[in-house]
Amino acid sequence: MITLTVNGQTRRVEAEADTPLLWVLREDLGLTGTRFGCGVAACGACTVHLDGEPARSCAIPLEAAAGAGITTIEGLPAAAGLAEGELHPVQKAWIEIQVPQCGYCQSGMIMAAAALLKANPKPSDAQIDAAITNLCRCGTYPRVRRAIRALSGQA
Ligand code: FES
Ligand code: FES
Repeated sequence: MITLTVNGQTRRVEAEADTPLLWVLREDLGLTGTRFGCGVAACGACTVHLDGEPARSCAIPLEAAAGAGITTIEGLPAAAGLAEGELHPVQKAWIEIQVPQCGYCQSGMIMAAAALLKANPKPSDAQIDAAITNLCRCGTYPRVRRAIRALSGQA
C-alpha cells in the first residue's frame, strides 16, 4: 500500500513501489487526462506536476512520488486557487488560440506550459523551446508558442 497526494487528496493504492506513477493515475485513480505516449520519458504526454515542477509520470516510480504533491490536468485549476468548474488561464488560452489538433498530447503540453509560466512569467522564445520539449505528432508547436506568448503579454 502506498499513499499519494493527488490533486490535494490523499489516495491509497495497492501497487508495487516501482510501478510508474502514470499507470496508477490512469488505471487505479481514473485520472485519464494524463496520457500514455512513449512510456520512456521522451514525449511528455504524461506530464504532471510534482510539487509544482513538471515531471514525466511514465518514468517516475510510485515510491519517488509518494512524498510529493501531485497535480494532474484534472487538478490544475484548483492548484492555482480557482473554483471548481473554472479553467486555468493556460487552458483558456489553448481554447482561444485553438492550439489542439487531435488533442492527444495537449494535456501534457498544458501542464508543461503552466509550469513554465509559473516559474518564468515572461519566457523568451528560446526559453519556451527549452522548457516545452513535448512531442506533438500534429505539429502544434507554433500555436503552443503563440499561446504562451499571449499568456505572458508578448502576443
Ligand atoms: S508517455 Fe511519458 S514521456 Fe511519453
Ligand atoms: S495535437 Fe495531436 S499529437 Fe499533439
